[in-house]
Amino acid sequence: MVTEVVIPMLGITIEKGKILKWLKSEGDFVKKGEPIFEVETDKLVTEVESPAAGILRKILIPVDIEVPVLTVVAIITDKDEELPKKYKSITPGFPTQPSISPTLQKPAPMLSPAISKRASEGNYDIAVLGAGPGGYVSALRAAQMGARVLLIEKDELGGTCLNRGCIPTKSFLSDIKIYRRVKGSDLFINGSRVSIDLERMIARKNRVIETIKKGISLLLQSQNVVLAKGVARILDAETIEVSSNKKRKVFKANNIIIATGSRVASLPTVKIDGEKILSSDDVLNLQEVPKNILIIGGGVIGVEFATIFHNLGAKVTILEMLPQIISTEDEEVIRGLKILMEKEGIEILTRTKVVNASSRKNKVEVTLEREGKQDTLIAEKVLMAVGRTPSTEGLKLERIGVQTEGKFIKVNSRMETNVNGVYAIGDVIGKMMLAHVASAEGIVAVENIMGKVREMDYQKIPSCIYTFPEVASVGLKESEAKQKGYDIRVGKFPYLHSGKALAMGEAEGFVKIIAEKELGQILGVHILGEHATDLIGECLLAMNVEASIEDLGEVVKGHPTLSETITEAALDWQKKAIHLPRN
Ligand code: NAI
Repeated sequence: MVTEVVIPMLGITIEKGKILKWLKSEGDFVKKGEPIFEVETDKLVTEVESPAAGILRKILIPVDIEVPVLTVVAIITDKDEELPKKYKSITPGFPTQPSISPTLQKPAPMLSPAISKRASEGNYDIAVLGAGPGGYVSALRAAQMGARVLLIEKDELGGTCLNRGCIPTKSFLSDIKIYRRVKGSDLFINGSRVSIDLERMIARKNRVIETIKKGISLLLQSQNVVLAKGVARILDAETIEVSSNKKRKVFKANNIIIATGSRVASLPTVKIDGEKILSSDDVLNLQEVPKNILIIGGGVIGVEFATIFHNLGAKVTILEMLPQIISTEDEEVIRGLKILMEKEGIEILTRTKVVNASSRKNKVEVTLEREGKQDTLIAEKVLMAVGRTPSTEGLKLERIGVQTEGKFIKVNSRMETNVNGVYAIGDVIGKMMLAHVASAEGIVAVENIMGKVREMDYQKIPSCIYTFPEVASVGLKESEAKQKGYDIRVGKFPYLHSGKALAMGEAEGFVKIIAEKELGQILGVHILGEHATDLIGECLLAMNVEASIEDLGEVVKGHPTLSETITEAALDWQKKAIHLPRN
């Protein structure tokens, strides 16, 4: 049998390779899987294994000649087989493409030489501290790329996102949406008398968490990621101590990724007691819905929990010190959400700074400053939602000299700290405290470790807020686009004109697209409305591939879908929306 030996595809961005050394000579017998030559690319040096057993009959590419990947570099035949004629005429050094499917050739693992060496010494290539969406995704990506990975977690797989954040709140919001729909509609006989079973709602939330946790665990096992349960402490840039139940174990790793996340912050004057003054962790297992609750902070957590508590029947008041709630969003979206929340009965007090809160017998007393005056409000419960603080305590970062910026670990765009081989990602670096950002930063860190050149780009990161209706955005707000000097036009489409939104009974909100006038470059998209957090995906794609707003308007969408609102907003920008009256 004749086998063509090629330079394998060693990575999606690797296009060329150069043979540094032939490990076998013409006429030698080679075993299948035996290293046959060493290849160098712009990203790595690795040995390539023989795809078949036989005689290395002819070397077609000598050393030091750069050729494209998949070039045939040698021919292997059976012992008594002649070299076929077509190969006899090839002059060594002149590349030829394979006549068999390259997928049949087994690629060498994508390891840089340094990484391979360390791995063979029995050390870990990468130790990841923290198994939240930043940490576990880093571990999986690193293992996919061939690294030996140690993942250290003191608590539960999935971190805040899975156990105390994104996932549990979305499980609640999904249940509450059905409840609210039945209760608020005259379609259902006795619908107004329906009530929600808090205990079962919490049980379902716990089942969802467990299912996802098992999934993560299986993924880690399938990629041979080693999980160490315990508290990590960095002894030096290559040594980590993990302690659990008074037992200590020391691990060696050539690279460390710190992904230890964040925890709930409070005001210096307010102590979260978990009874009456609550954090977002505490409310997830609350056994009773309070009659009333004061939510301190009108950021993302504040508005999401306001939605949850209000729809469970509590009287909710948001206290926000800034002039706006969710102040990072587009002004029109903020106004729209505020109007809708207030219409539902949620009280929103902006320019209201909480200075103190203290538990009394059966209530909490909150002192606030408003319009230059102090005031006191009383409530059954208080939820602190004034931000989060990075979890770095106990890591002993100062021991290895990792620089911080305030409380956050300082990194460059490659996610490198100032200490060689030590990376940090996610909430501990505080760039954007979002699960999807942590995962993206983790992938950047890992790919840099594995020899690629990657930088984190924060320009096209979506923001998703799970209120009723949802808020989602990407890119510049209208005010930012103007401040930056862009000559812009805005395309808008209200949900009220969408057949699908009306059919769903969810016709509140709008899609707003900001694009630069001359070239139609999409600068920002802002959605207030049902499924906004899903709809933003197509806008992200459009922005990523640099589609113009005209391109966005040309797409034929299924009817009826909410996605048509995006097309119509893009068409409105061009003054040709079909389902808007002429103005
Ligand atoms: P945040 O920073 O979004 O909002 C905190 C709010 O509290 C701010 O608006 C601030 O002005 C206000 N505040 C601070 N001190 C105050 C005082 N003394 N009196 C009144 N108001 C005061 O923080 P939040 O909502 O706690 O969320 C923490 C992190 O978690 C954020 O980075 C957020 O992005 C992330 N997160 C993201 C979610 C999502 O993407 N859907 C969901 C939940 C959290």
